Amino acid sequence: MPGLHRIRAGWLPALMPAFALAFTLALGLAPARASGDVELGAWLAGACVACHPAGAASGGVPAIAGLPQAAFVAAMEDYRSGARPSPLMHALASGLSDAEIAALAAYFADVKPAR
Ligand code: HEC
Repeated sequence: MPGLHRIRAGWLPALMPAFALAFTLALGLAPARASGDVELGAWLAGACVACHPAGAASGGVPAIAGLPQAAFVAAMEDYRSGARPSPLMHALASGLSDAEIAALAAYFADVKPAR
């Protein structure tokens, strides 16, 4: 199908800048801000909401929507350092910079917990 092939070849290069931006953000290369960057947090939250939906805690996964920022940051730092044991959250927190944790805290603090 030569027609289909031409469409694919045309679209991929056009999408590359978007992918490049996404990877830049993923690697934490976005400029660090003093307080959490809500937009960055919203983007990073995509990795969290599969287990932490905006609803109530379920199946051993605590709800994090609406968590005060200080408590959120403290929990993430304790997971990252291992002070709070959870192999799962340790693995996740280990990949996050301070700026990214602050961004996630700022984002989730404003998410209204569903009932
Ligand atoms: C694979 C499922 C999973 C994913 C994905 C996940 N979490 Fe968790 N999270 C958990 C579980 C399970 C716990 C409870 C761990 C424990 O025993 O302390 C937890 C606990 C937490 C807590 C502590 C909440 C509290 O009330 O003390 C925070 C904060 C948190 N997660 C944030 C995040 C963030 C931010 C992300 C995305 C970067 C994320 N989690 C992704 C499963 C997950």
